[in-house]
Amino acid sequence: MSQGNLLAISDLHVNHAENRKVVEDLRPLTDEDWLIIAGDVGEFSHDIAWTLDTLRKRFAKVIWAPGNHELWTPPKDPLQLRGRKRYEHLVDLCRGLGVLTPEDPYARWDGPGGPVTVAPLFVLYDYTFRAPGTSTKEESLAVAHDSGIVCTDEYLLHPDPYPSRDAWCEARVEETERRLSACDPALPTVLVNHYPLVRDPTRILRYPEFAQWCGTVRTADWHQRFRAHTVVYGHLHIPRTTWHDGVRFEEVSVGYPREWQRPGHPDVGLRRILPQDARPKEHIDLPNHIR
Ligand SMILES: [Fe+2]
Ligand SMILES: [Fe+2]
Repeated sequence: MSQGNLLAISDLHVNHAENRKVVEDLRPLTDEDWLIIAGDVGEFSHDIAWTLDTLRKRFAKVIWAPGNHELWTPPKDPLQLRGRKRYEHLVDLCRGLGVLTPEDPYARWDGPGGPVTVAPLFVLYDYTFRAPGTSTKEESLAVAHDSGIVCTDEYLLHPDPYPSRDAWCEARVEETERRLSACDPALPTVLVNHYPLVRDPTRILRYPEFAQWCGTVRTADWHQRFRAHTVVYGHLHIPRTTWHDGVRFEEVSVGYPREWQRPGHPDVGLRRILPQDARPKEHIDLPNHIR
């Protein structure tokens, strides 16, 4: 039996030199370790390719779920594909590197803490985590625009060929429910999504208007319905462990240098998902931890 670890990280944002150094320093603990990357590797296609290739060469398996940044079409990126075509291009890139994507059969972790099904998901968001005091997408977006807290996705994450990002999300929810429903019912799951599946973790955002770009109410019961042992997510840049209905949620974000270099911020580095630590609310002490 494998003696490896199922590890996770997200929000590497490698266009920042300090974060690129974080990636350069990441090493597995054993030859059998798997690495989950829960989105926001970066927004430029060459950065995404470099990161996934670098990490795939070090870990026995790499599992990727897209973040919103990978789905941007930055004007300066040589890759000018938009929306679903860009996502499909990234899936092809991953397959060429041997990285698992949400379009592949889910993996089965048989190492310590297993067996579990490890399912990378791409669900997006649909503006249903609405701004306080609003009841429609239009009202919620208007509040955000009035306060100046508008996610860059509105300008760079194109939903083509869907009419909107929420329509793309709806299609992804339906497809993902179908896939998860077909999983082995005897096994618990590790659900990996860029967004937190439940709204609660967004309630401590400094700007509550931002929550509308952070998930969908349609996944609120997935951790229970699909037997989650652990939910792994990123995006909020608030790395921590929380519990919802008895299920462990791990936000594994690195975030931007200005965030993780702030005094008092938790260490950035790999988080162990399985085997579960005796002290699950703390980071494990890895040799390449950034202090
Ligand atoms: Fe991020
Ligand atoms: Fe994100």
